[in-house]
Amino acid sequence: MRGKLITFEGCDGCGKSTQLKMLSAYLQEQGVQHVFTREPGGGKISEAIREILLNGKNAEMTDECEALLYAAARVQHLHDKVEPALQEGKLVICDRYVDSSLAYQAYARGLGETFVESINAFALQNYLPDATVFIDLTPEEAFLRKKGADENDRLEQAGLAFHKRVYEGFDSLAKRYPKRYIRVDGKQTPAEIFADVVKALKERNCL
Ligand code: TYD
Repeated sequence: MRGKLITFEGCDGCGKSTQLKMLSAYLQEQGVQHVFTREPGGGKISEAIREILLNGKNAEMTDECEALLYAAARVQHLHDKVEPALQEGKLVICDRYVDSSLAYQAYARGLGETFVESINAFALQNYLPDATVFIDLTPEEAFLRKKGADENDRLEQAGLAFHKRVYEGFDSLAKRYPKRYIRVDGKQTPAEIFADVVKALKERNCL
């Protein structure tokens, strides 16, 4: 039986990494066969694309080029890592996925859903996530917690207005796909957030 694909999404600094670490420890404890991966990245070629995308020196990159590179990294990552693991019946947990392209490139950059969905059609048609955990924390709250943006990270330099649009993107996706989306209040303690995540994933038969 094909494994399940769970993705984690949210604004930069929403607390995703902490939750992924907690989930990793939990799955190990439970003896669940799983694979952790991330986008952009998760393989040799897609990690090389990641370096181009996130490098602060590439400020002149066009929005279209950015969207296409995320989609290219995704297709390679699906081929190298996600698809084989799912075929082996493993649970795949992915730190960001196609919804990040919709929130960042379609909504925040303003490229629109039609374009972003069309270049991600391979991922969208065959490998839509079984569940998407959205850690709901606004960029204002996230920035306060993180105490400023990383000056070397091209996307984090984009500013508050951009990140507010990213948040609005995730918010509207969560409203549009309530069955797939698990919205968790990111203002809670890490332990409380994690309890909500596990409960919701169990309810969706993903754990
Ligand atoms: P990363 O340092 O992994 O950030 P985070 O820990 O917040 O996930 O960098 C990934 C960045 O790439 C992040 O700012 C979101 C962005 N991104 C897109 O703009 N589009 C995409 O399709 C994906 C997967 C990520």
